[in-house]
Amino acid sequence: MTENPQAASWLPGSGYGGAGPARVIAVASGKGGVGKTSVSVNLGIALSATGRRVILFDADLGMANAEVVLGVRPAYTLMDVVFGSRGIAEVMTPAAGCQLISGGSGLAELANLSHPQRQRLLQEITGLKDSADTLILDTGAGLSKTVLGFVAAAGDVIVVVTPEPTSLTDAYGLIKVLDRYRVHREVMVLANRVRNAGEGQAVFRRLAVVAGRYLHNIELKPAGHIREDPAVSRAVRAQVPLVVASPHSPAARDMVEVARGLTREPAPEQGIGSFVKKLFRVFG
Ligand SMILES: Nc1ncnc2c1ncn2[C@@H]1O[C@H](COP(=O)(O)OP(=O)(O)OP(=O)(O)O)[C@@H](O)[C@H]1O
Ligand SMILES: [Mg+2]
Repeated sequence: MTENPQAASWLPGSGYGGAGPARVIAVASGKGGVGKTSVSVNLGIALSATGRRVILFDADLGMANAEVVLGVRPAYTLMDVVFGSRGIAEVMTPAAGCQLISGGSGLAELANLSHPQRQRLLQEITGLKDSADTLILDTGAGLSKTVLGFVAAAGDVIVVVTPEPTSLTDAYGLIKVLDRYRVHREVMVLANRVRNAGEGQAVFRRLAVVAGRYLHNIELKPAGHIREDPAVSRAVRAQVPLVVASPHSPAARDMVEVARGLTREPAPEQGIGSFVKKLFRVFG
């Protein structure tokens, strides 16, 4: 069991030991730069503090931001799985109680891989089945085939949105595509960079009203809010994750609250096996 002693002191453990399928959560946004990587990394650490075995999968292929935020230097990345002979277990880097799988740099789209390379990558991801209770996918910005493929394959989706109108319209654009796919009955919406809980609720309502009027296959569910907080960019600059660097800062407390909400979600019906099957359908 992976423990993060620092985080564990302020987040009560749930004793969840990994029975049942792993939860696969895609963190997505539409517009870039709204906080997907910060959310993925800090939620992962907060969840690992409850005793869950968390794998952070940097699915923002080509950018490799998660390792920078975590302040680790992976010896190997997914590139070594695709183009080399490394197995997926060899490209996991321990980081703040989680295991990071770095996307590495130099590959933007899975579609650019040859068929055998894609098959090999998907086969290796299947091997994660027994290594995690929670798989968090930090996806890239925009609605590329790779991003949409990862989001569609994940059992749970968290759409990160800020109060900026462009962030709201781009989040709605993403949700609209997911509505058309009909693979998720609901998606979670996380309001980031808000002044307070009230603004978080207002951001959620703005999206929920439009979705309720125009979308018929998907429901929005609030995942909570994270306050605007200078400690977030301080942590990024120091390359120490926020919940470790400033556990008592407003944003870190909010991250923990969001993680706590996730632990209250009903157990997922399908795990990593189903995730990979869907990935095969999209990319295989
Ligand atoms: N709650 C917050 N308070 C203050 N600043 C924040 C907050 N959340 C994010 N930021 C700032 O926004 C920057 C971008 O965040 P992050 O890299 O997590 O976004 P992203 O959605 O992953 O971006 P990309 O689309 O490029 O992958 C951070 O470096 C941080 O400075
Ligand atoms: Mg990012």
